[in-house]
Amino acid sequence: MKKLFVTGTPVTGKDLVGRKEEIREIKHLLQNGQGAVLIAPRRFGKTSVALTALQELQKDGYLIADVDLFTITNKRRLAESIVEKTLENKKVLGIIRKIKKSVSEAFKNVEIKQVIENYEFVLKFTESSIDTYEVLESSLDFPQKFAQKEGKPLCFFYDEFGDIAKFDGEDIIKLMRGKFQLHSNVCYLFAGSHESLMKELFAKERSAFYKFCKIIYLGEIAFSDFTPYIRKKFKEEGLFIADNVIKKILERTKGHPYYTQLLCRSIHYLLKGEKTTIENRDIEMGYEDAIASEKPYLEKLWEELKEALAQLEVLLRIASGEKRLYSNKNKVNVARSINALSTKGLIRKTGGRAYSITDPFFEEFLRRNR
Ligand SMILES: Nc1ncnc2c1ncn2[C@@H]1O[C@H](COP(=O)(O)OP(=O)(O)OP(=O)(O)O)[C@@H](O)[C@H]1O
Ligand SMILES: [Mg+2]
Repeated sequence: MKKLFVTGTPVTGKDLVGRKEEIREIKHLLQNGQGAVLIAPRRFGKTSVALTALQELQKDGYLIADVDLFTITNKRRLAESIVEKTLENKKVLGIIRKIKKSVSEAFKNVEIKQVIENYEFVLKFTESSIDTYEVLESSLDFPQKFAQKEGKPLCFFYDEFGDIAKFDGEDIIKLMRGKFQLHSNVCYLFAGSHESLMKELFAKERSAFYKFCKIIYLGEIAFSDFTPYIRKKFKEEGLFIADNVIKKILERTKGHPYYTQLLCRSIHYLLKGEKTTIENRDIEMGYEDAIASEKPYLEKLWEELKEALAQLEVLLRIASGEKRLYSNKNKVNVARSINALSTKGLIRKTGGRAYSITDPFFEEFLRRNR
């Protein structure tokens, strides 16, 4: 099916706007045996960039695998997923996907058993008596063993890596680091949303992954990259849009990838079949529609912040354009709130002591709810 403005699923190929430099850098790092970690707030396109880099590496002969820690609930499932995803590089193991069973079930299948006879340890998964930690240890080494046997390098992508903390943190992180650094045939790519949390894992001298990866930050997408994409997409639908009107869209979204796609989708929905030229006032109509469609998400963010009123207050001050956040008496509290808001990825330093809100729709929502 032809996809118009995509929201909600990662975009790759022709739908991925911009990001050329970032993808080039990631590939360069991985191909030269260095790890890379992508850091950006929610919905900035981390997964899209990582999957595109992976696809390109696959075309260059790499084996690839990806695991999303957000969707994984326990250590045993993590161990299974690492093995499943690695094995998916073998065509016949697409069967695992088809039968939609866990790896433990799939390994009872004779055909699959033959393929993996070289990888005896994975059969341990069928024995529930084996200690989870032991299974996880072997699983973490599995991509390396697999790559060696296949005689090809493998690139492994851990998405939402900040979630690693939920599997009783420190131990598993140290275990991973200890193993990954010995894997000469595997390169590692990570992504995570909470900037401060990711920095704890990758950037501080005492971090487990200190110097293991180069950090790559994703920002908004340049107007000059988004403009031709938006023009072309609307044209395919019989809608003409002038560059100065596209600029209005991008000013509303500040080049935030998700919200730009969302706003364009709303405009298309409202105008398709009604008119052939998109005008400035259509942007405002589309904007209201798009904000309304995000209400549940924005209200959830708001509700979560109501638990921490000091943070909400700082956020409201940033939303209303206040620059001198520390000018009032309560400096310690302000600093604490700023810290907490950065950890959550809700604000970002824009220089000196100035901060901006990373989600342009939430910023507007805050202004309207003051
Ligand atoms: N480079 C891009 N070009 C066009 N649209 C993009 C791009 N990157 C992201 N998007 C839009 O943003 C949405 C979210 O992208 P993606 O899932 O890759 O982001 P993410 O940072 O991994 O998000 P999350 O924090 O929810 O995991 C996509 O569905 C798409 O609408
Ligand atoms: Mg993602």
